[in-house]
Amino acid sequence: MAVLKKIRSRWWSQSDSAPEFPTIPESRILPADSRYDIRPLTISQIDECWRLDQRCFVDGEAYSRDTFEYLLTAPESVAYRVVGANGLMVGFVIGLIEPDHTGHVTTVGVAPDHRRRQLATRLMVKVEEGFRRRNVRLVRLEVRSLNTSAQKLYLTLGYTITQRLPKYYSNGGDGLLMVKSLT
Ligand SMILES: CC(C)(COP(=O)(O)OP(=O)(O)OC[C@H]1O[C@@H](n2cnc3c(N)ncnc32)[C@H](O)[C@@H]1OP(=O)(O)O)[C@@H](O)C(=O)NCCC(=O)NCCS
Repeated sequence: MAVLKKIRSRWWSQSDSAPEFPTIPESRILPADSRYDIRPLTISQIDECWRLDQRCFVDGEAYSRDTFEYLLTAPESVAYRVVGANGLMVGFVIGLIEPDHTGHVTTVGVAPDHRRRQLATRLMVKVEEGFRRRNVRLVRLEVRSLNTSAQKLYLTLGYTITQRLPKYYSNGGDGLLMVKSLT
C-alpha cells in the first residue's frame, strides 16, 4: 500500500465508473483458529498498531503515526485487529470508504510469527463485511508488483488485477491495482 494522497490521485484520474468483476466464493476459507479473536480497531490502539505496522512493513513503506491517526479517526474508516491469546495485537486491516463509495483497503498486516494461519484472510473477510454493511459494492487495493504473497492472498479472495501502476511506491517500485465486486 502507499501514501494516501498518491493512492487517491491515481484512482480518481483513471476511473470514471466501476467495472464489473466476477465474485469468487469465499468457501475456500478454513475454519477460524479459536486462539485468535477479531475485534474492531480504534484510535485507542494507535500505538500498538503503529508498532506492529513497522514490524510488518520492513520495506520502508510503513505508515507514519500521523497517517494512522488520520485512518483511525476518519468517519469513513472500517478497521479491525486480530488479538492473540495473550491479548496482544498480531494483525490489523484498515479500510476507507472513498467519496465514490468504493471500499479501499489501505493496509493489512500480520506479525511475522503469526503468518500462514489465515489471519489476513479473516481480516479481509471482516473488512469486506464492514464495507457491505455500509452499502459498498466494489473494493480496491494496491499491492507491490513484487509482493507475490499478498497478491496470492488477494487472488484467493477473489480480487482481480486490473492495472499496473508504474513507479507507484516511494522507492520506485511498481504497484498493481486489484479490485473485487461485493455484489
Ligand atoms: C501478506 C500478509 C498480510 C499475509 O498474512 P497471513 O495471515 O500470513 O495470510 P493468510 O494466512 O491469510 O494467507 C492466505 C493465503 O494467501 C497466500 N499467502 C499468504 N502468505 C503467503 C506467502 N508468504 N507465500 C505464498 N503464499 C502466501 C496463500 O495462498 C495463503 O493460503 P495458504 O496458507 O492456505 O497457502 C502477511 O504476509 C504480511 O503482513 N506481510 C507484510 C505486509 C504486507 O505485505 N501486507 C500487504 C500489503 S499489500
